Amino acid sequence: MRENFHAMLILVAILFFGAAEFCFGRNTSFSCIEGEREALLKFKLCFNDLSDMLSSWKGYDCCEWRGVGCDKNSRHVVSLQLRGSVFDQPQLYLIDDVEEVVSSLLKLRYLAHLDLSGNNVNSSLVPPSFGLMKQLRYLNLSSVNFKGRIPGELGNLTRLRVLDLSDKYFEQLEVDDDIQWISRLPSLQQLDMSGVNLSRTSSNLFQVLGMLPSLSWLSLPSCSLNNSHLLSHSPPFNFTFLGNIKYLDLSQNSFQGPIPLFLQNMTSLKFLDLSNSHLSGNIFDSIGQLSKLKSLDFSDNQLSGSIPDSIGQLYKLKTLYLFGNQLSGSIPDSIGQLSKLETLSLSTNQLSGGIPNSIGQLSKLKSIELSNNQLNGMIPDSIGKLSNLEILYVQYNSLGGVISEAHFANLSKLIQLDIGLNNLSCEMKSDWRPPFNLSYISMYSCKLGTRFPEWLQFQKTTTMVDLSFTDISGPLPENIGHMMSELQELYLANNLLNGSIPKSLCNSKSLQILDLSNNMLSGNIPKSLCNSKALAVLDLSSNMLSGSIPNCWRNDQAFYFMDLSSNNLSGLFPSTIRQLSFLRALQLSNNSLHGELHVAVRNFTSLTVLDLGENKFSGNLTWIGVCEIDHHSLKVLRLRKNLFSGYIPLELCSLSQLQILDLADNNLTGKILPCFGKFPTMVNATHLNPDNDDDYYLFWTQLMQVVKGRNLEYWKKPLGLQISIDLSGNNLVGSIPEELVLLKGLHNLNLSWNHLLGEIPKNIGQMENLESLDLSQNELSGMIPNSMSSLTKLSHLNLSYNYLSGPIPTSTQLQTLEDPTIYAGNPQLCGAQLPKKCSNDSLPPKTPNSKDSNKDAFEKMWFYIFLMSGFATGFWGGVL
Ligand SMILES: *[C@@H]1O[C@H](CO)[C@@H](O)[C@H](O)[C@H]1NC(C)=O
Ligand SMILES: *[C@@H]1O[C@H](CO)[C@@H](O)[C@H](O)[C@H]1NC(C)=O
Ligand SMILES: *[C@@H]1O[C@H](CO)[C@@H](O)[C@H](O)[C@H]1NC(C)=O
Ligand SMILES: *[C@@H]1O[C@H](CO)[C@@H](O)[C@H](O)[C@H]1NC(C)=O
Ligand SMILES: *[C@@H]1O[C@H](CO)[C@@H](O)[C@H](O)[C@H]1NC(C)=O
Ligand SMILES: *[C@@H]1O[C@H](CO)[C@@H](O)[C@H](O)[C@H]1NC(C)=O
Ligand SMILES: *[C@@H]1O[C@H](CO)[C@@H](O)[C@H](O)[C@H]1NC(C)=O
Ligand SMILES: *[C@@H]1O[C@H](CO)[C@@H](O)[C@H](O)[C@H]1NC(C)=O
Ligand SMILES: *[C@@H]1O[C@H](CO)[C@@H](O)[C@H](O)[C@H]1NC(C)=O
Ligand SMILES: *[C@@H]1O[C@H](CO)[C@@H](O)[C@H](O)[C@H]1NC(C)=O
Repeated sequence: MRENFHAMLILVAILFFGAAEFCFGRNTSFSCIEGEREALLKFKLCFNDLSDMLSSWKGYDCCEWRGVGCDKNSRHVVSLQLRGSVFDQPQLYLIDDVEEVVSSLLKLRYLAHLDLSGNNVNSSLVPPSFGLMKQLRYLNLSSVNFKGRIPGELGNLTRLRVLDLSDKYFEQLEVDDDIQWISRLPSLQQLDMSGVNLSRTSSNLFQVLGMLPSLSWLSLPSCSLNNSHLLSHSPPFNFTFLGNIKYLDLSQNSFQGPIPLFLQNMTSLKFLDLSNSHLSGNIFDSIGQLSKLKSLDFSDNQLSGSIPDSIGQLYKLKTLYLFGNQLSGSIPDSIGQLSKLETLSLSTNQLSGGIPNSIGQLSKLKSIELSNNQLNGMIPDSIGKLSNLEILYVQYNSLGGVISEAHFANLSKLIQLDIGLNNLSCEMKSDWRPPFNLSYISMYSCKLGTRFPEWLQFQKTTTMVDLSFTDISGPLPENIGHMMSELQELYLANNLLNGSIPKSLCNSKSLQILDLSNNMLSGNIPKSLCNSKALAVLDLSSNMLSGSIPNCWRNDQAFYFMDLSSNNLSGLFPSTIRQLSFLRALQLSNNSLHGELHVAVRNFTSLTVLDLGENKFSGNLTWIGVCEIDHHSLKVLRLRKNLFSGYIPLELCSLSQLQILDLADNNLTGKILPCFGKFPTMVNATHLNPDNDDDYYLFWTQLMQVVKGRNLEYWKKPLGLQISIDLSGNNLVGSIPEELVLLKGLHNLNLSWNHLLGEIPKNIGQMENLESLDLSQNELSGMIPNSMSSLTKLSHLNLSYNYLSGPIPTSTQLQTLEDPTIYAGNPQLCGAQLPKKCSNDSLPPKTPNSKDSNKDAFEKMWFYIFLMSGFATGFWGGVL
């Protein structure tokens, strides 16, 4: 009995102390292994813990620490899940030797899962000792800022199933010639080396990968792979295992030529991404064999030919990206069989024919992008059945016919709609209540022919509206700014709008871009514009606005571009405009503004374009010297057709970026300054090559993307880029300075209608880019310099009404300019073109070679073009 009692006491004691230890100490056989706890603490010390990720790493039971996983029975640490985030949060930042990290991790002898992704090891080299963690099955070192070569020792991690060494963020890792080590990872299922430079690996990359029997997920985008990695035909790949791959991302590499045919045999593929390479040729007909595909991306290559019919067999497909190629032919009807399809993106190809009616069967579709093709015919009504549709982009095609309410019947989820730049008529009734609530709507050039659509005002969350060229007329609703209170961009250019500019629009807190140009708006420019903080682009040009320009601008306003040209504005230059410290372009031309500018135009520190042409401004130009315009930003100075008088001030020459100088049709006197020959951007052929459409196009699209915040591929038409000086129609005297011939980049020089004396500079032939030269109506004398015959780009020449004498130089270029009026009023000249022949004149005249340029469009262009320099940088990042 006594013994029993003792035994019971002992039992109770054991139970009690056991429980006490369990409750308070957490220091029993249940808690973590001390040696491993120490290793973890050592690991922790290696890092600066920027986001307190490891703040729970204290106390005894390390198994309870955040991110630490222990085996339930043995209490050994088996997993470390310590994800940082490159982009969002601060993370663990290595402050010690990375070898220390590995050596502490090596103490965790049962560690199978290690995820350190998104932390930062401060550009350390990958320690080969990683290869000693033999028990690892999962290793994620994605975006940890390792650099240098990936050591072959990783091939010792023979149990690895998942290896993620991707680093698209830092892109500092590479694999050197020998990649054989990967083949020693027989259990590997997932391999991600995104952004790792594999260009130096031997060409047998896919042979090696083909030896991994379990590999099903392979991600090698941005790895600098090229054909030599793919097309190692001898010996051919062993497809036994490659055929198991389900996920294959080879995007953003430099593959060329046709899509590799071996893909045909990878019939397990569910995900295939070959976008952003230089692949060309057709999409293989047998694509339909890859019947397990859920996502297919061949976008941004140079694929041509038509989309194979067999694509309709990919009945599991959810996303299809073929945009940015040169695919032609029509969209196959079979596309209607892709019943699971959610995203269809075929934009920017050369597809023609109609949009297949069968598209209406794709009830899961969320996004249709067909823009920038040559599609014609009508948009099928059946689109109106796609009740899951969120995005419909068909802009920039040749679609015709009528868009009616039926097209939108069930599109209650639609948020982005762009049907612009087709030949469509939009015939929605004005009392229509659309089923959707759009955030983005462009009907550019879709003829509405009504008043400002009432239904639009019920689109409460719209941020972007483009109804340019839609023939809408009548006044804008007075309360538009209140009804569409989230509007950021409103484009209503080239319509028949009249009435005044609604104040509610000017008061809008969100509006950033307002384009009402080319309408018939009248009345004053509302003063409330001075309260707008967000508005950055304002285009009210070509209306009938009158009164003076508000003069209440403030330095907390975001204005970047302001075009008030071609209205009936009067009064003085609004001097407070100089408060707009972000203003890049100010266009006030073709109004009736008057007064002197000495005081008014000051502190335009970053103006790129100043156009005050066609007004009644007067006084001398010395303000250019004192106005503190940043002499390194102004590219366009256009003062033509005003009443400016006096001398051309020397300070003009310090405008180091000037590319257009237009002082024509004023009352300027004195001489042309020799320093004009030193405008740096005119001396050198400009950085932009006017003959190169690509340069031009790039420029324009970049600009328009920033200005208009969207992709305006339609502005593709090439327009020449001109660098010009126009001083015509003044009272300038003296001779043409020899120095002007140094302007090798100049395209246009117009000095006509002055009183210039002396000879044409002998070396004028050096101005190799000159396309147009007008020296007419002066008092120039002497012979036409022979060097003029080397002006091979000259297509417009006028030397009439001077006192020139002698023969017209015989050169191919000048002979093509056969119009005799070029030389009229110079009775002493002789040549084949003229009634007066020179004695040994022989060359027959050739057909004229005149270039037509679209002047209006061209002029408009300028004011966008020259804004560029500032757009790319700073400001817009902040505002938009
Ligand atoms: C248990 O905790 C005590 C301190 O309370 C400590 O000295 C001892 O080392 C711990 N034992 C184990 C096995 O962790
Ligand atoms: C990162 O490494 C550089 C040079 O290796 C060193 O100067 C710097 O102090 C390190 N940063 C931190 C936070 O340890
Ligand atoms: C590795 O971690 C990142 C997050 O940092 C994650 O996005 C990625 O999917 C992980 N890789 C694998 C293969 O699990
Ligand atoms: C680890 O790999 C290296 C080189 O890849 C090899 O030389 C070494 O023998 C391997 N070590 C073990 C323990 O397998
Ligand atoms: C391809 O690999 C598998 C598995 O290793 C093997 O059984 C087969 O013989 C190989 N085929 C060829 C042609 O090498
Ligand atoms: C695809 O597989 C077939 C047999 O299944 C074979 O004849 C053909 O050579 C393979 N194609 C490629 C490119 O490996
Ligand atoms: C122009 O700016 C300077 C400082 O940048 C300032 O001192 C000057 O008063 C300003 N002039 C005018 C007219 O605002
Ligand atoms: C230019 O005009 C200003 C203001 O009218 C005047 O003060 C200045 O003397 C004039 N300069 C010249 C050189 O005529
Ligand atoms: C042009 O300037 C001269 C003086 O330089 C002056 O006599 C003449 O009236 C001015 N003409 C006009 C139209 O302003
Ligand atoms: C013109 O270009 C050359 C070389 O492209 C350069 O050395 C020179 O400085 C440039 N001149 C001017 C005035 O910008």
